[in-house]
Amino acid sequence: MQYVTNLFRTTARELGRATLVLVPGVFATCAWAAEPSVPYVPTPQEVVERMLQIARVTAADYVIDLGSGDGRIVITAAKKHGARGFGVDLNPERISEANANAKKAGVIDKVAFYQRDLFVTDLSEATVITMYLLPRVNLELRPKLLDLKPGTRLVSHDFSMDDWKPDAHVQMEAKEKYGGSGGKSDIYFWVVPAKVGGVWQWEIPVSGKRQGYEVALAQKFQTISGSVKMAGRNVSLQNPRLRGDHISFTFTAQVNGEAVKHEFTGKIEGETIAGVARLSGGRIQAQLDWSARRAGKTARIGAAAPFASVVLDTSR
Ligand SMILES: C[S@@+](CC[C@H](N)C(=O)[O-])C[C@H]1O[C@@H](n2cnc3c(N)ncnc32)[C@H](O)[C@@H]1O
Repeated sequence: MQYVTNLFRTTARELGRATLVLVPGVFATCAWAAEPSVPYVPTPQEVVERMLQIARVTAADYVIDLGSGDGRIVITAAKKHGARGFGVDLNPERISEANANAKKAGVIDKVAFYQRDLFVTDLSEATVITMYLLPRVNLELRPKLLDLKPGTRLVSHDFSMDDWKPDAHVQMEAKEKYGGSGGKSDIYFWVVPAKVGGVWQWEIPVSGKRQGYEVALAQKFQTISGSVKMAGRNVSLQNPRLRGDHISFTFTAQVNGEAVKHEFTGKIEGETIAGVARLSGGRIQAQLDWSARRAGKTARIGAAAPFASVVLDTSR
């Protein structure tokens, strides 16, 4: 509550500083291209460091801060972790300050700050997106974030994404919060999930015969559920898991009268999944290449690439 109050106090202060250009009798407009949808409140440095730690930022990352303020998140990502990236902010004063801070920190070869609306910013290069916005702004951004490359990590200070539950949530004390009065900070973390809903089909050789499988997956953000149809029977999936573009699930099904545990793990690439199947139970012990296709335009049972590397198949 105190935070929201502070945010709105800050908004008034920020907007008060914007130069008004008055054209008598015609219109009044702001010197910025658009008004910020969120006021400037910096993330305390200790929270910045924790956010980057939770997202496991490394030198391989490209970090984009949406509404970058004085640039501290992207600058810290570059200085402490060797990452590259950029920040965008609507307020030109913040952009000058952030670029000056990047220069002072010796990271202008890695980062830059642009005066730009976060809603029209191209995010395709990002491996990590950071935000300290507001709940309604997070929600407005959500479709754009869900369309990013699967596996892109998102970290938000203080605000969640409604029914898109975070993959991790940490709360910490932050002494520097609200200009030094101190308070709690929430950090929310998500991994953008691949779009995996639909029907997937494949075949694998089991006991010397090619066996067809069909899995129907329902998806809500990173949560998946479903069942598999095999030899005319339906079985529920156990432990279905989706993390970015990695999927795994298991089920137990009867093969020649014996209960056989099936474990699948793979990487989703558009309309295909490629990975490994492990079968165990009765006389069957096998590890096989697994390739599934989404049913639809391109999918047919048996359309999957030939399977290779049967490590061990003791079945007859
Ligand atoms: C709460 S501050 C966060 C600053 C910084 N990310 C941090 O965590 O220290 C939000 C920032 O977003 C900027 N902002 C608000 N709406 C924006 C928009 N539509 N496009 C770009 N920046 C925006 C504001 O000017 C402000 O600097």
